[in-house]
Parts: sequence; structure tokens; C-alpha cells
Amino acid sequence: MRIVLLGPPGAGKGTQSVVLEEKLGIIQLSTGDMLRSAVASASSIGKQIKSLMESGSLVSDEVIVEMISERISKSDCSNGFILDGCPRTLAQAKALDIMLAKENMALDYVIEMSVDAEKMVQRIVGRFNCQSCGAGYHDEFKTPQTAGTCDHCDKPDFQRRSDDNPETIRKRLKAYDDQTAPLLPFYRDKSLLHTINAMAPIDRVTSDLEAIFC
Ligand code: AP5
Repeated sequence: MRIVLLGPPGAGKGTQSVVLEEKLGIIQLSTGDMLRSAVASASSIGKQIKSLMESGSLVSDEVIVEMISERISKSDCSNGFILDGCPRTLAQAKALDIMLAKENMALDYVIEMSVDAEKMVQRIVGRFNCQSCGAGYHDEFKTPQTAGTCDHCDKPDFQRRSDDNPETIRKRLKAYDDQTAPLLPFYRDKSLLHTINAMAPIDRVTSDLEAIFC
């Protein structure tokens, strides 16, 4: 099964991908995570994209298409994947169709995670992750069971993303409206688009997604 999760920053794409990965037995591919790894490794691509990401702008289609094309050709994607954060432009969506067609593959579902954009600043500024295992939390909506300790690996080290500040979040929301929202009619015309209410509590969103796939 090949799934795309579409939604503005904070819609819950990462949160739900991790759950779906386990439930469906297919891998999550987050372009944001791949790009953050490139920045952390200080590779030549990482140095080029660092300031773009910190400012909330999109990285170029060329970089994304090359990165995702290389990634989905790996054997762990042969059963399918959940794309979290890609495609984000029409050029990326068309390139993805072409790369899948070459392998006799196609997307099965595109999910629009519909939210009230105004509420996304609060969601994102409250987000933090375990530095060791990557598990995601929120100051209000998803706190660790024992304060200060990760539920999954018991480590006490948490971090916040450098682009999770109100000014950058507003720029990322605008990038979604201007460059990613045009993908909704593109996928609706292909009869692939399903829309869910991603303002509901996290567990409810998960069960609404499962109802589509199972
Ligand atoms: P990326 O990492 O993809 O960030 P994003 O799209 O801005 O999305 P987020 O990770 O902020 O939100 P999310 O929807 O995953 O929300 P989450 O589940 O964490 O991209 C970062 C940057 O990389 C971009 O700005 C761009 O520069 C670059 N980039 C990446 N891909 C690119 C591409 N294809 N092309 C070009 N550039 C690209 O949830 C947020 C918080 O809310 C969490 O704390 C969570 O616990 C909480 N939460 C989740 N769901 C709910 C709920 N239902 N109710 C209450 N709280 C909830």
C-alpha cells in the first residue's frame, strides 16, 4: 500500500505515520526527517538547505525528487510506504507519479489531514521529541507518562525543532497554502483523495485513518 499524508505543519502527519507504520507494516518516509539528518551531518546538501529550512521555505524540487527517488527504490519500500511531507508541490507530485510508473507502481491513497490553520501554531510550539528514539510529544496534548522521561526508551533527553517558532510556523503555513494546497484538486481528479478531520483527538484521527485503509 502506498499512501501520501497531506496537511499543513502541525496537522499530525508525523504523529499518525508512526502509528500507521506499525499497524500496516509499511515504512514511514518523512522528507522533513531526511532533510534534518542531512543538515545534522553537515553534508554539502545539508549546508545548502539549512538556512532555507530554518526560515520556513521549501527546499528545491530537484533536491527532493532525487532524495525520494533514491529512497523508494530501496528494498524496505517494496511492500509500500507512507509519505509524510512529500509531495509538497505539483512538480514533486508529477515526478513521483513518473518514478512510480517506471516501477509499475502507483499511489493507493492520498489523505488530506484537514485542520484549522490558526490552531497549528499552538500545536507546533508545544511539540518536543525524544533525542534518543525520536518519539514525539506535546506539552498539552501528548505528555510523557512520567514527566521528563521518554515512554519508549526511558531516556531523559528531549529536544525542540529550530523551525518551531511562531514566525517560521506562519511562513510554513503560507508555503502550504501557496504551494501544497494545489495538490488537493490534482489528487481529487485522480479519485485518490480522502479527507479526514485532523482537529479530532489523536486516537480518533488514528481510527478514522484505519477505517479508510482496513
Ligand atoms: P516537515 O518536517 O515535513 O514539517 P511540516 O510539514 O512543517 O510538518 P510538521 O512536522 O511540523 O507537522 P506534522 O503534521 O508532522 O505534525 P506532528 O505530527 O509533529 O518539514 C520541515 C521543513 O523541511 C519544511 O518547512 C521544508 O523546509 C522542508 N521540507 C520537508 N519536506 C519537503 C518537501 N517535500 N519539499 C520541500 N521542502 C520540504 O504534530 C505536531 C504536534 O501536535 C505534536 O506535538 C503532536 O503530539 C500534536 N498533535 C498531533 N496530532 C494532534 C491532534 N489530533 N490533536 C492534538 N495534538 C496533536
